[in-house]
Amino acid sequence: MSRKPPAQDPSQLKHESAVGHVTGRAVYTDEQHPPQGLLSVWPVTSPHAHARVLRIDVAQALAVPGVATVLTAADIPGENDSGTILHDEPVIADDVVSFHGQSVAWVVARDEATARAAAERVRVEYEPLPPILTIEAALAADAFHMLPSQIVRGDVEAALAAAPVVLHGELHVGGQEHFYLETQASWASVDSEGVVQVTASTQHPSETQAIVAHVLGLPANQVVCRSLRMGGGFGGKETQANPYAAVAALAAWRTGRPVRIKLERGLDMRMTGKRHPFLGRWRVGCERDGRLRALDVELIANGGWSCELSPPVLSRAMVHVDNAYFCPNVRVVGRICRTHLPSNTAFRGFGGPQGVIVGEEIIEQIARHLGLPAHEVRERNFYREGQATHYDQPVTGNHMHELWQQALERGDFSARRAQVAAFNAAHRHSKRGIAITPIKFGISFNKTEYNQAGALLHIYTDGSIQLNHGGTEMGQGLHTKMLAVAARTLGVSAARLRIMPTSTDKVPNTSATAASTGADLNGQAVKAACETLIARLRPVAANLLHGDADQVEFSDDAAFLRSAPDARVDFVTLVKAAYAQRVSLSATGYYRTPGLRWNPATGKGHPFHYFAFGAAVCEVEVDGDTGVHRLLRVDILHDVGDSLNPGIDRGQIEGGFVQGLGWLTCEELRFSDQGRLLTDAPSTYKIPTLGDVPEDFRVRLYIPPTPPATAAVFGSKAVGEPPLMLAIAAREAIRDAVAAFGGDPRRVELGAPATPEAIFRAIDAVRETSARSDPLPRAQEEASGRRTFSHG
Ligand code: MTE
Ligand code: MOS
Repeated sequence: MSRKPPAQDPSQLKHESAVGHVTGRAVYTDEQHPPQGLLSVWPVTSPHAHARVLRIDVAQALAVPGVATVLTAADIPGENDSGTILHDEPVIADDVVSFHGQSVAWVVARDEATARAAAERVRVEYEPLPPILTIEAALAADAFHMLPSQIVRGDVEAALAAAPVVLHGELHVGGQEHFYLETQASWASVDSEGVVQVTASTQHPSETQAIVAHVLGLPANQVVCRSLRMGGGFGGKETQANPYAAVAALAAWRTGRPVRIKLERGLDMRMTGKRHPFLGRWRVGCERDGRLRALDVELIANGGWSCELSPPVLSRAMVHVDNAYFCPNVRVVGRICRTHLPSNTAFRGFGGPQGVIVGEEIIEQIARHLGLPAHEVRERNFYREGQATHYDQPVTGNHMHELWQQALERGDFSARRAQVAAFNAAHRHSKRGIAITPIKFGISFNKTEYNQAGALLHIYTDGSIQLNHGGTEMGQGLHTKMLAVAARTLGVSAARLRIMPTSTDKVPNTSATAASTGADLNGQAVKAACETLIARLRPVAANLLHGDADQVEFSDDAAFLRSAPDARVDFVTLVKAAYAQRVSLSATGYYRTPGLRWNPATGKGHPFHYFAFGAAVCEVEVDGDTGVHRLLRVDILHDVGDSLNPGIDRGQIEGGFVQGLGWLTCEELRFSDQGRLLTDAPSTYKIPTLGDVPEDFRVRLYIPPTPPATAAVFGSKAVGEPPLMLAIAAREAIRDAVAAFGGDPRRVELGAPATPEAIFRAIDAVRETSARSDPLPRAQEEASGRRTFSHG
């Protein structure tokens, strides 16, 4: 019995792959040791957004030396479908192509160059059909994926008719390419027992397993899917890893050889779906002090060619259009347009950002119209504790008011507002703007059944431990957090623990690592597995310590009695004793989030375990001659509860915010009028770089005055997605600066993304309005929105 130095604080662990990432030793899917006879693939893709496929001739490609086979839809033994909600998604196009870049065949060859060269020799005859590309075109053609959905509270029409002020407008919000550093990648082989072994860069190994099984016509127990780690997912590998894993598995199944797929960047950009562009159309009724009375919003998503995850993305947009604001009468109608574009999908925030930005647009237009400071109108409308959302969930644990005050103070908001005004009075060609915006984000999958997780823990007799859980690591630090949870619960140092690659033969039937719930769900499952093991070890320890089992504590790699903390039995001795007494040292853990309900038909329920809160103050300077802006300073205050790892959470806040900046200020997807993605390389699609990071970037974790009543494992809160939406403060700061170029700031329209062109057009428009004088009408004011700049 010995005393050990105290173990490292588990919340201070470095990212478990930090050294691997920095040295390049961390192995990603496509960096494994290639097995003997590995084959590669290259697709034959459609040059039309919409066409009938008349004939495919692969003879010339097959004749190329080194080509093993050419796969077409006819080679699929099971079902040619990777759809997860609707079964409308052929893995390889059959008789029709539905977007530019869709695969009609895959060449399988000894290396990628050979496959690529041979793909050029596949002859495909098409009969082009007219494509539908934009939201407007889909609305005109009545092209939708599902029936419209709606969420209603109160009598919106009556409340609008009675409201002293009524405004309306619309906002086009652009999509976003995930631009994960590692493109879609999978390796597949068929082992000697006929089991298909897939290693995939996937956020959802269980679904990848299911789709591979479905495409090959095999039972799920004949497919194993592993995920080592991803070089980023951001939602883009929640479902969209599946078809590529299926192609690799199909090729392996047909050739009997191991096969790798790794989409070249341009292919990845052209073939995979993105964040959904949205059109928000709104009417709002409010008091003269800006308090919301009625909100009537239509949210229309550009879904792309297949249904994919569009329905839950739309749902999340619909339940986030309120953001942090209470409105007594609400009607939100949602629609998903069916267009001939890549199928849009999950992207950090999962529709939440598209809902929140429309809500913030409305609040901002109210404040401008009434000539009130926007931050006051925002605050005036915050939910009070326990007030219910339009979908009936009460907003409890609501720190918004307190957090907001702190954010205003830390951001020195009122003094800087005055400085901005002084700067603007003194400068004609450049103007500054400042804004603060909040975020309230619901944590849990809307779909109740996804809110479950599993873990599997093995303690070996030398005291080392293997930890498996159902979540996947994509850089967000989930594995590191899971190590901390296990180390804390078992009272051992993290050095004893080894995280294993996520695998469907270790933890089955898992949910996607998504909706920011990875640590919440898997953390509780890991904790449960550890608690099971502790319960088994407790009597063994009590015996060795000659005390009562309920007196035993575990910490610092030892067990001891609370009454005699100096007499300790070390973990290895304890484990060996347990083995000798035939006590099982392996346990599963399982968790399901309690208290959740959601009825997608009525749009009502209690879908979220809790809400995460945050606020950001942004200050910008805009050049009136070019529309170029600079982000001068950002202050973020974000609520992560009792953080499992403050270093990782800070990284998530910074990264999420900058990714949001990309979405709102520089990333712009452009398609030709024939549906070809024009911005299919980093040279034409501008993602934020180090130079776009704010010059003065201050991130603080919010410490609530009282611990939240509902949070997740060890009082922590999810952090993966909510901070992305704090970038809306940058957009509003830009709008504030744009307004300063004109004399009449009552209505300022700004495109999303606010690229230099969009900002320049907005400045032009406000300069124009200041030339006219346009007095406020008295009784009921009715202000109409000019169309914003569209990229639907
Ligand atoms: N952080 C990094 N570095 N890479 C990623 O791919 N994905 C984001 C977020 N943070 C992502 C990331 C998205 S979309 C989600 S839903 C969460 O991480 C998922 O992980 P979590 O649930 O463990 O937070
Ligand atoms: Mo994140 S969009 O839920 O993968």
